[in-house]
Amino acid sequence: MTSTAQPTVPEGRKAQPDHLGHVIFITAAAAMGGFLFGYDSSVINGAVEAIRTRYDVGSAVLAQVIAIALIGCAIGAATAGRIADRIGRIRVMQIAAVLFTISAVGSALPFALWDLAMWRVLGGIAIGMASVIGPAYIAEVSPPAYRGRLGSFQQAAIVVGIAISQLVNWGILNLANGEQRGKIAGLEAWQWMLGVMVVPAILYGLLSFAIPESPRFLISAGRLDRAKEVLSEVEGRTVDLDARVSEIQDAMRREHKSTFKDLLGGKGGFLPIVWVGIGLSVFQQLVGINVAFYYSSTLWQSVGINPESSFFYSFTTSIINIIGTVIAMIFVDRIGRRPLALIGSAGMAVALALEAWAFSAKTAAGTLPSTEGTVALIAAHGFVLFFALSWGVVVWVFLGEMFPNKIRAAALGVAASAQWIANWAITASFPSLSDWNLSGTYVIYMVFALLSIPFVLKYVKETKGKALEEMG
Ligand code: GLC
Repeated sequence: MTSTAQPTVPEGRKAQPDHLGHVIFITAAAAMGGFLFGYDSSVINGAVEAIRTRYDVGSAVLAQVIAIALIGCAIGAATAGRIADRIGRIRVMQIAAVLFTISAVGSALPFALWDLAMWRVLGGIAIGMASVIGPAYIAEVSPPAYRGRLGSFQQAAIVVGIAISQLVNWGILNLANGEQRGKIAGLEAWQWMLGVMVVPAILYGLLSFAIPESPRFLISAGRLDRAKEVLSEVEGRTVDLDARVSEIQDAMRREHKSTFKDLLGGKGGFLPIVWVGIGLSVFQQLVGINVAFYYSSTLWQSVGINPESSFFYSFTTSIINIIGTVIAMIFVDRIGRRPLALIGSAGMAVALALEAWAFSAKTAAGTLPSTEGTVALIAAHGFVLFFALSWGVVVWVFLGEMFPNKIRAAALGVAASAQWIANWAITASFPSLSDWNLSGTYVIYMVFALLSIPFVLKYVKETKGKALEEMG
């Protein structure tokens, strides 16, 4: 919505290069939350088997200890927005940093399995908060001309966080293997894996003191002078600050705060568009992507690959994930979200079918014949590549832009919670399912990949190149 009194992009609004450097620093600091999100959620991958041995638990209990963190994620994601509106975005980052730190120390030094689970829930709450506050803050401090590109920092940070956690796990395992009785300074490798997270957590906390509060929050809190300072810091000194402040105030006045009630309507309870958002979120998880990131070490060891190589393959998978994400970022605005999603679904279905076929050759001794072993490894990497270049990025992009303005915030909250719950369902069920039948488990994921194709064709509309105001 524009008028002559409120030019949309005045000349000075475009960040000058000197400001851009500063804005990139601010964005990168905030995206540390995304890094921790990726790191913390996948670090467990390297620790699963050791925790199973240490506490002598079966698959079902083990799965609950791992998956329970995702319930924390749902709680953190559901509450972060409201806390941020009350006490500010930076404070939420600081709360998340403190929770990440406490969770890392607690998880590394648990008394028993129950408190390990509790520390992981605490870390989950921090992940949920980081998953919401990162993109929200980045959008609020980005100069309009750079918002899209700066916004993609968060997803990039998530996949880099996943890769670094696998690399660190691999390094720790190698170090521990060189030590007597496999302990480093009296602690087992899995304890170091979970504990090392204090480093990025503290860094996140420290960085949050070096970046400014969002101008939007400052304006809503009546701190107009500080808001103007921040605006000149991020948008350039030549901007008409008074005009910018009143523009933001007008936009905030026009905005309708969406509530859960606004999502209701239609036959199925929710409005049809809300169901489409939930469907996208749920399919993104039901293809089993996080089995690759939380359980790949377990998976490879269960088919006879040694722990070192299993850890190595977890790392190479996460490098493929980064490459796929970059490909998606290049193509998402060029060929569109829908074609990418369809290419991804088809590619994932083929890769999952190959994995199911290869795992069906698992011998009674728990190994794979060499051809099947090679096919399984290549297919697992192919699966992650197709996911990363499609559903990994596309779903987050869709969720950010597909809902009408009026219901965006609330609809996003509902779709994001559905995603954490679907993630929990897959994570909690994988160990038992794979004990039952590893090949059959992959057939289930393949069926979901196939079902996602008619779902996209029938219900998902392309959003590429459309203004947000046109949705709905
Ligand atoms: C997406 C998914 C997340 C997954 C990640 C892997 O962000 O939402 O669950 O771990 O991709 O790259």
